[in-house]
Amino acid sequence: MVSGRAPEIWIGEDGEALAREGVKRLVDSARRAIAARGRFVVALAGGNTPRRLYQLLSHIDSIDWTRVHVCFSDERMVALDSPDSNYRMARETLLSLVPVPPSQVHPVPTDLSVDEAALRYDQVLRQVLPQTEPRLDLALLGMGSDGHTASIFPGSRLLAGVDDDFLLDDPETGPLRSDVPTPSLDSFGSERLCAPVYDAPKPPLQRVTMTPYVLNLARQVIVLVAGDDKVAAVSAALESDARVAEIPIRAIAPVTGELVWLLDRKAGRALGSPMR
Ligand code: 6PG
Repeated sequence: MVSGRAPEIWIGEDGEALAREGVKRLVDSARRAIAARGRFVVALAGGNTPRRLYQLLSHIDSIDWTRVHVCFSDERMVALDSPDSNYRMARETLLSLVPVPPSQVHPVPTDLSVDEAALRYDQVLRQVLPQTEPRLDLALLGMGSDGHTASIFPGSRLLAGVDDDFLLDDPETGPLRSDVPTPSLDSFGSERLCAPVYDAPKPPLQRVTMTPYVLNLARQVIVLVAGDDKVAAVSAALESDARVAEIPIRAIAPVTGELVWLLDRKAGRALGSPMR
């Protein structure tokens, strides 16, 4: 796992408890960010797990929503009104129900090609992130049963160099870096914040994802995992020394930020941690 602080692991009874805890942490994160820097830049997770969290969050009026900037940790390359769109899920459960200024909601431009969309979203993030210290305040992430997160799947080129034996020599691009340095703002200008995905094993095939680099610079990362089907991946992620190439979420370890895993009892079953 990339160097970083040990994660906090919270286990709740069920999906509802998980959602409530996620709301509590997000509200706290927002308050701290707005008090300290006048804005809260959050990357929302896709998939189904965050749905209930977003629904509960839509009733929260203690956040100054006019100070909130919303982006997406990944997006499927589908129309923004497609049932598969992460943006549509967030819009229906949250964004259409709270007074966040539309100009501060940044969907991935899925009407472009996947390469153009990744390049454009990289530019968008560079405009949204504070110039002084371009870091996400909070990145919400889910995890698939194969240990993927955002749209960083097992074997992804974005993971090359993190394990000491997983390198990719691509005739087109030449050898990728053999040792990924600890993420630092020093290289912000030359790093990729987003990347295209052409061959996701979880349909749809084409996606845009935030990279481990930008996620690991976040002030806080909250991973939301629920359900029996995630037990093995949770154990592999938190209690094994599996290669990052096999369990991509093991590449997510904020360098100075806080990493929090919020699990329901089913997903955390094999960890044996005390119930909350
Ligand atoms: C996506 C998500 C993906 C998701 C996990 C978990 O676009 O599919 O970003 O990373 O978070 O696959 O999905 P569920 O929450 O639906 O189990």
